[in-house]
Amino acid sequence: MRLSGAALFMMALAACGKPAAPGDDPRADAHSAAQVTRGAKVYAANCASCHGAKLEGQPDWRKRLPNGRMPAPPHDESGHTWHHPDRVLFAITKNGLVPPYAPKEYESDMPAFGGRLSDEDIWAVLAYIKSHWTSPEVLAARAEMTRRP
Ligand code: HEC
Repeated sequence: MRLSGAALFMMALAACGKPAAPGDDPRADAHSAAQVTRGAKVYAANCASCHGAKLEGQPDWRKRLPNGRMPAPPHDESGHTWHHPDRVLFAITKNGLVPPYAPKEYESDMPAFGGRLSDEDIWAVLAYIKSHWTSPEVLAARAEMTRRP
């Protein structure tokens, strides 16, 4: 059977409608309105104080604070949260910056939310954060960067 040009076009559209990176975990679905809404509440109550109400991070977030620790980075497209696969973001949010994602004894102001938030709330807040990554450049780079474990 020969496919018409229109059919091929529709298939291509379906394939790139929701660009999924290899690092995307279905438990954090940026396209689920219900999960994103839940995540927005979790974010406002638990993350915004450091990472910014608009996910903009702390000022001068690339520069160490006087106490030697790093400020909170943005979670929007200007930061580097999107460089990491979902399972890494989940582990950092749940356990804080501990091995294997930080050196042993690493000192950080990023709290561990395992005792405070359920796994569902953590996946929801990640879905909310991910819903801010929409530009084709960022989505393509994320797909490339999360290709390997
Ligand atoms: C008390 C301040 C504070 C709060 C509240 C906070 N964070 Fe953080 N977070 C930080 C800091 C500071 C860093 C950078 C740590 C470092 O590099 O040492 C960070 C880093 C991260 C990272 C790693 C980002 C990357 O690109 O490597 C993730 C993911 C993260 N935070 C998620 C969250 C989420 C989700 C919440 C809310 C549930 C939250 N944080 C609440 C301070 C905070």
